Amino acid sequence: MDAREMKVKAAEAALAHVEDGMRLGIGTGSTADEFVRLLAEKVHGGLRIQGVPTSERTARLCVELGIPLKSLDELPELDLTIDGADELDADLTLVKGGGGALLREKIVAAASARMLVIADESKLVNTLGAFPLPIEVNPFGHKATRIAIEKAASRLGLSGEVKLRRGGEDVFTTDGGHYIFDASFGRIPDAEALSGELNSIPGVLEHGLFIHMASLAIIAGEAGAWTLKA
Ligand code: A5P
Repeated sequence: MDAREMKVKAAEAALAHVEDGMRLGIGTGSTADEFVRLLAEKVHGGLRIQGVPTSERTARLCVELGIPLKSLDELPELDLTIDGADELDADLTLVKGGGGALLREKIVAAASARMLVIADESKLVNTLGAFPLPIEVNPFGHKATRIAIEKAASRLGLSGEVKLRRGGEDVFTTDGGHYIFDASFGRIPDAEALSGELNSIPGVLEHGLFIHMASLAIIAGEAGAWTLKA
């Protein structure tokens, strides 16, 4: 089974958690895309849901496939969000933002009664941090914000490159018009401490550590799909 097939397996298993009438947060990324495709088939078969997308990219795919959408302002309380992750550990602490949608993903997940993560088994790690941590920042003063991020990390004994994400020739900008730093700190032994430090920096809008947000993960591997509970 290749990685794509595992993503489809996880997405298929997630569909069992979607109930008629649900208000559903819909994640971003290649795994979430597989979920959207399968969800669209169910919607065409009569399942009634209202979806809130976590990115313009996901919104476009949903519209293309005929999934009914609302904005989070129209539907500010959601039953369930289903989203991918770049890394997760056994406590269901996540690293997200590889696709650049972390701020909206976190806002939508926080507005949801439950968050379900779907991932292939390569995403499950013992200690977070091999995947560079995305940190979304205001473009204003972003160089000063980078220095503040480096200082905050060093207070926790972390160091490594904090690199401004690019999209081709240009600086990558998020759906909200912000920049992203990808921070290669290596192992993150204390995600809560790093989260606290990053959240105290004025230019940081959000970071990709999702702590105590996901209640369930569906992991797919060669042996099939299994669940992890927080
Ligand atoms: C988007 O910003 C991310 O948080 C994605 O959810 C994450 O990068 C997982 O993407 P894949 O499913 O493509 O690996």
